[in-house]
Amino acid sequence: MKTITVNLTPTLNERSYPILIGSGLLSHPEFILRHLTQQRVAIISNTTVAPLYMEKLRSKLETKGVASFPIILPDGEEYKNWQTLNLIFDALLANRCERSTAVLALGGGVVGDLTGFAAATYLRGVPFIQIPTTLLAQVDSSVGGKTGINHPLGKNMIGAFYQPRTVLADIETLDTLPDRELRAGIAEIIKYGLIRDLVFLDWIERNIQGMLARDAAILTEAIERSCANKADVVAADERESGVRALLNLGHTFGHAVENAMGYGVWLHGEAVAAGTVLAADLSHRLGMIGREDVQRIRDLYVRAGLPVAAPNLGAETYLRLMGLDKKVEGGKLRFVLLKHIGEAVVRADVPRDMLIDTLTECTVHA
Ligand code: NAD
Ligand code: GLY
Repeated sequence: MKTITVNLTPTLNERSYPILIGSGLLSHPEFILRHLTQQRVAIISNTTVAPLYMEKLRSKLETKGVASFPIILPDGEEYKNWQTLNLIFDALLANRCERSTAVLALGGGVVGDLTGFAAATYLRGVPFIQIPTTLLAQVDSSVGGKTGINHPLGKNMIGAFYQPRTVLADIETLDTLPDRELRAGIAEIIKYGLIRDLVFLDWIERNIQGMLARDAAILTEAIERSCANKADVVAADERESGVRALLNLGHTFGHAVENAMGYGVWLHGEAVAAGTVLAADLSHRLGMIGREDVQRIRDLYVRAGLPVAAPNLGAETYLRLMGLDKKVEGGKLRFVLLKHIGEAVVRADVPRDMLIDTLTECTVHA
């Protein structure tokens, strides 16, 4: 008998990676260089972000002897699909990228999710670095290794867990971010407060104006505290067999909205905000939080300039779309709900009538 052992990297520790948050990080290629094993990288971005930051990044890398080539994707959630993924593979192959050629994601969550999935699958895995340029990507999507694409039938349904080597969040890049996108990022910041960090939620309520006014110190603190929360959750449950599901507060409803309205019509953060109001209403119907708690959540989103009313798609449409949620187990929907403000739980026992009441009474004509 012969025994063959597949020696996989066994511990989370060996794949630990730093998230760097600060102003002007794009001008410091050394933070990238230390994670490279080859002096050549592919930089994946889109038609909006590349004209703003691609040349700066490339020239800074060049000063350290790192050659790079850009891969520019069309911009938009509607392009987070197989066709765009294939554009990345075409370019990686045409440029003869090897197993040690790192790919850098320069952009928001769409570029990050697409690039990460390409990195996970190209040559069965190449090094990957996240350089998030939206608030949403800096506080959420660039951290934790969820990568993937949308399917016409469901959001983020195809993908892989694949961790980056490092995350470089340069808050200077937020200077060019449109206000609507900034607000969408705030939705994911509020999420951490609601699910696990009441002290942070209080801080967000006091500092929401500063965030909207792009106060650098306030934004930096918001990003740091969000990433600390996310890092804790991911370290505890990298592949979402338990506590990581709580990061999906509002997402089961929100993903249904994004899909039904057409990818890109509702921004992800907007759909999460309105979806969280539905989750809060359902939590109240189940007797977990009070009406005043639901109002507190609504008030915060309103102050952040985020939508609080999800579109009325019809309960059947919601149920059909939510039936494809990644949390469904044994055909049963599972919802992330609020036990208290500051503590979330997953519940699989939501009565159908109650759910339909939320979906009809708390939504508005689309
Ligand atoms: P996005 O990537 O579409 O970026 C929003 C818009 O801002 C785009 O038009 C983009 O080109 C533009 N942009 C990006 N940076 C800019 C800058 N600095 N200046 C000017 N414009 C800029 O959207 P997003 O909100 O960053 O990410 C949403 C995506 O992230 C969704 O697909 C969502 O599913 C995904 N997501 C993933 C995770 C995860 O854990 N992987 C978590 C949350 C969300
Ligand atoms: N954004 C949800 C997660 O990373 O798990």
